Amino acid sequence: EKGGYDYFMLKEIAEQPKAVADTLLGRIDAAGSLTLDEVRIGAAELREVDKVVIVACGTAFHAGLIAKYAIEHWTRIPCEVELASEFRYRDPILDRQTLVVAISQSGETMDTLMALRHAREQGARVLAICNTNGSTIPRESDAVLYTHAGPEVAVASTKAFLTQLVACYLVALYLGQVRGTKWGDEIRDVVRELSRISREVERVLETMEPVRELARSLADKDTVLFLGRHVGYPVALEGALKLKELAYMHAEGFAAGELKHGPIALIEEDMPVVVVAPSPRGRSVLHDKIVSNIQEIRARGARTIVVAEEGDEAVVPYADHLIRIPVTPTLLQPLVSTVPLQVFACELATARGNEVDQPRNLAKSVTVE
Ligand code: M6R
Repeated sequence: EKGGYDYFMLKEIAEQPKAVADTLLGRIDAAGSLTLDEVRIGAAELREVDKVVIVACGTAFHAGLIAKYAIEHWTRIPCEVELASEFRYRDPILDRQTLVVAISQSGETMDTLMALRHAREQGARVLAICNTNGSTIPRESDAVLYTHAGPEVAVASTKAFLTQLVACYLVALYLGQVRGTKWGDEIRDVVRELSRISREVERVLETMEPVRELARSLADKDTVLFLGRHVGYPVALEGALKLKELAYMHAEGFAAGELKHGPIALIEEDMPVVVVAPSPRGRSVLHDKIVSNIQEIRARGARTIVVAEEGDEAVVPYADHLIRIPVTPTLLQPLVSTVPLQVFACELATARGNEVDQPRNLAKSVTVE
């Protein structure tokens, strides 16, 4: 049932190109328009939405953080992202014009379910992004956009995350399409790139051997830090979460701009720091910033592991290890930059003799608060 792989997690990592393609299937027509018929919230209602609030836990929360960048950029609708367990116990400001998006692989996460009930009680409309047909969260939502990752068995979420990202992009693009905001060349390009992205994920998977080797060489480390900017920041958080739950190592993700506000004090000689570099094209200011962040940490002794686009030469002099990813539009980069971090965590866990599919103290679906 593991399809020849030692662990479900490895199988699920390998299934990502298909999971991504399946989640896009039938949702983009030949003209590049989105047809999300399942989203049973009418176009008129979607035009009235004046705020999007995303609630989720763990890895799904990281997908939500990335969605915020896409939603605000493509639709100009303000978007908040909140941990479901926090949202539920405060007094959020919601009404009929708020679109709440609940993201959950299992559809059974109690914190997320409670958050969506809380939102509906206050009149907000809830759209679920979910991987499990007929589970509780989509049943209690106004509409659902299913991810088509197929069953995810390993406790650590991989293919579900990538498909959650795809679903979030589709929601953002659909909102943009319905409302006519910023619906122009940029959006058309992104839609085109999105329909090709599964091949890029496959290319990343084909080049993972050096990442495995690197992970094995770090098996006796205590701490790994992850840094990113823009959409690379949630990717850093996700890389750190994977490492915590699988390798039981101290791992933290930071926004690279926050370094000087505290975390840089953590850097010690030879401490591995994974940096997710934004594309050098277009938003080159961001890229310049990350290059100086890499220089700063390296000057303090960090061993830098840089995830950077093919053709990004500026990072080369400061990277002790370089992990190449394909060129993608900035907002879509997490679909390719997360993959090496999954492989890295999985291999480190194996090297440390940990149980990959069933990490200690964790359950696949958390049905208690
Ligand atoms: O089933 P859900 O997507 O609602 O689960 C949310 C989290 O419990 C889940 O993503 C968890 O963080 C994973 N173990 C991460 O790999």
